[in-house]
Amino acid sequence: MKVNGTPTRTIWLEADQGVGTIDQTLLPHRYATIRLDSAEDAARAIKTMQVRGAPLIGATAAYGVALAARQDASDAALERAYALLIATRPTAINLKWALDEMMAALRNRPRDERVAAAYRRAQAIADEDVEINAAIGRHGLALIGEIAARKGGGPVNVLTHCNAGWLATVDWGTATSPIYQAHDKGIPIHVWVDETRPRNQGASLTAWELGQHGVPHTVIADNTGGHLMQHREVDIVITGTDRVTAQGDVANKIGTYLKALAAKDNGVPFYVALPSPTIDFSVVDGVREIPIEQRGPEEMTTMTGRTPDGRIESVRIVPDGSQVANYAFDVTPARLVTGLITERGILAASREALAQAFPERAAATVRHESDQGCGTRFC
Ligand code: MRU
Repeated sequence: MKVNGTPTRTIWLEADQGVGTIDQTLLPHRYATIRLDSAEDAARAIKTMQVRGAPLIGATAAYGVALAARQDASDAALERAYALLIATRPTAINLKWALDEMMAALRNRPRDERVAAAYRRAQAIADEDVEINAAIGRHGLALIGEIAARKGGGPVNVLTHCNAGWLATVDWGTATSPIYQAHDKGIPIHVWVDETRPRNQGASLTAWELGQHGVPHTVIADNTGGHLMQHREVDIVITGTDRVTAQGDVANKIGTYLKALAAKDNGVPFYVALPSPTIDFSVVDGVREIPIEQRGPEEMTTMTGRTPDGRIESVRIVPDGSQVANYAFDVTPARLVTGLITERGILAASREALAQAFPERAAATVRHESDQGCGTRFC
């Protein structure tokens, strides 16, 4: 998508084989890029959320393995890079998917071919993400088009949570891809953007990227969605996800579940947009099985923003001494999900629909689970 009118991806290869990306912790106040030169750099960028969003975390980790291979392509060094990167964030399954893809591309390969193979696979993972998200957009566009036709004039009001936009992916975004495609086709559209406490990815990132693309939007406090739905101000909810289980349960940014409950109570369709690497066929019951990241208390106790004279400052908003809890994700059970917007079409959130649409992924997971394993990814 565009930054100040220039087509931009969130991650790219520099001429000298370093990796460039956007420092998302500075947005919306400053647009700045950073360089990654090692697996350690990639791990730090993911951990500190300079890059975030499940698909972009996966792509960054893939490049992290390529950067590690450039320094040392031995089995031991690649195992170390895998261990470092996998430990950065626990909920987004795209991270493990991308790392496993990289290892599959490198194992059984002579050492002198590994660097080129690693860069090739990392680049392909990034390019595939763009194609997948464009396809998600085409399928989601049909949904928005139907609502627009039914409304016969006024804008389609979409509510979204957190940032599942192009900043969270390599390009297009997942939840935002149908929105951008509808806007580009001239369908009147307006987005309710949940601010998404505590890190405010909605207010800071989704609002910024929608603004850059000229999509009308309104930032709302997280608890506003239910009220808007009761007053018929939301036509459809579209969110992203960090992990979808074999039966269609959906992990996403904390607060997503409450939006799904409100949507169910008000008869508002609740869709989740996802690329297939976000499906984890090895888990079934999302509430019981998906690990939920808990982050540091400072995200809760402080707010960061721009002062009138342009300085970026953090202020404390919680009394000294109060205990805080910072759960980063929650799980929306499949029964609350109207449909999953994937690159292969819109699916029911069910075991049958997912396995039928992605048989190769479902089968690969069964095979993997029955493997005995030899303790290394280079067996
Ligand atoms: O903690 P974050 O900012 O990485 O969380 C991001 C989300 O919850 C997104 O909705 C999800 O990763 C899907 S991104 C296409």
